[in-house]
Amino acid sequence: MVILLIIGGSASQKLAAEVAKELGEYLCPIETKKFPDGERYIRIKGNIEKKVVVIQSTGYPQDENLIELLFIIKNLKSLGAREIKVVIPYFGYGRQEKRFKEGEAISAEIVANLIENSGASEIISINLHEDSVRNFFNIPIENISATAPIAEYIANISNKPVIIAPDKGALGFTEEISKILECNFSYLKKVRLSPEKVETKIADINIDYVEGHDAFIVDDIIATGGTIVNAIAILKEHGAKSVSVCCVHPILVNDAILKIYAAGAKSIAGTDSLKSEVSSISVAKIIANAIK
Ligand code: R5P
Repeated sequence: MVILLIIGGSASQKLAAEVAKELGEYLCPIETKKFPDGERYIRIKGNIEKKVVVIQSTGYPQDENLIELLFIIKNLKSLGAREIKVVIPYFGYGRQEKRFKEGEAISAEIVANLIENSGASEIISINLHEDSVRNFFNIPIENISATAPIAEYIANISNKPVIIAPDKGALGFTEEISKILECNFSYLKKVRLSPEKVETKIADINIDYVEGHDAFIVDDIIATGGTIVNAIAILKEHGAKSVSVCCVHPILVNDAILKIYAAGAKSIAGTDSLKSEVSSISVAKIIANAIK
C-alpha cells in the first residue's frame, strides 16, 4: 500500500526518483510541457494519496519552475491531497530578502507567500542563502544543510584537506565541514562591487594552513564564479598544493565553469539541488532524512 507519494517537478525529477528510492516510496509520474505559446501544462498521472511530497527546485528558468511548482501544489490540493510537503532544494529569488534600494520588490517574500497560499503544508529547503527567508512563511519550514554530503565527497578525494570560506558568509558552513573532517579551515574577506565584480583579501587568521595542503573552497552558491576565481588566486599565492571547489547550489551563470578551471581549479563539484554538469554530490539522503 502506498502511504506517501513523491512527485518531482521537471527541475528535480531525477533527484525525486532518488529520494523515493531512499525512502522506499512511490514516485508518481507527472507530465509537464510547454504549449507553443510558452504557457505551462502539468498533469499528475496517478492516484493521489493524502500525504504527498513535491520536490522542485526553483532555479533557472526561475519563473517557469516556480509556476510549475504552484500548479503542482494547487492541483494536488484540488485532487484531494491533505498534507503537501514541499521540498525546494534550491530556493530561487531567495537572495532578495530585503529592500537593498528604495522601491525594490522583496522577491523572496512574494515567492514564499505564493507557495504557501497555493496549499503547501510544510517546506524543506537546503542552505537557504539567507536563513531569514524562513520568517516569510507561516507554515513550518526546515532549512537543512548539505555539509554532510560535501564533507563525505572531500574525504573521498583528499586526506590532507584544508577548508576555505571564500567570504565571511560561508564561514559557519565551512567550519562545520572542517569539524566533520577534523581538519583546519580559514576564510577570506570579500567585498561585492557589482553583481559581476568582487574584491577579495586575506583575512587575518589561519591563511598559513593552506601551504602544502589540498585547499577546498566551499560556498553555498556559485553564480558568475567571480568569488571563486578571486579565492583561487589567493590560495595559490599562499602555497596551496591544489585548489578544488565545492558548492551547494551550482547556478553557474554563462561560462563560470570555464572561468574557474582557467583560474587553476583542480575540480569543481556541486550538489544536485540544481541540475548542472558538476552536480555530482547527492542531497537525496539528507532530503529523505528530513522527510521521515
Ligand atoms: C554570496 O554571498 C554567496 O555566498 C556566493 O559567494 C555568491 O553568490 C557567489 O556569486 P558569484 O559566483 O557570482 O561570485
